[in-house]
Amino acid sequence: MERDEFLKTLGISFAMVCAGTCFQACGKKGDGDQDPGTGTGTTASVEIASLPAVGSKVTANGILFFRIAASNSVNSFIATAPVCTHEAGQLIWVQAENRIKCTNHGAEFSSAGTILLGPATTPLRVYPVTLTGTTLIATKS
Ligand code: FES
Repeated sequence: MERDEFLKTLGISFAMVCAGTCFQACGKKGDGDQDPGTGTGTTASVEIASLPAVGSKVTANGILFFRIAASNSVNSFIATAPVCTHEAGQLIWVQAENRIKCTNHGAEFSSAGTILLGPATTPLRVYPVTLTGTTLIATKS
């Protein structure tokens, strides 16, 4: 093999190794490798009327609001990151079990964001909610 031919082969092999490593790292979705609620200071507000029944949910400005009780007091609502921390699955409130569940792989979180069941390994971010008149306000913290 000529020197030039050897160097070309070596260069192509090196490029393939680098590309393979990059694709592997970029495409990896391990457990708990996402935290969709990052960032602070973002505020969202929604009207109570947009959450008419227990289990209703609405997303505003990257914050997911759930109604978790029937009354219109502030304690009847929670605000969380918009998707599951595992692989960004959709979240629902399951009243009978008093918890948030992911519809993708079944992770479960308490209303405070604590992991109750995997595969998620990162807790769900939960933001403080205030109520002014009929408007719920949450701010990422
Ligand atoms: S996306 Fe996998 S448990 Fe939520």
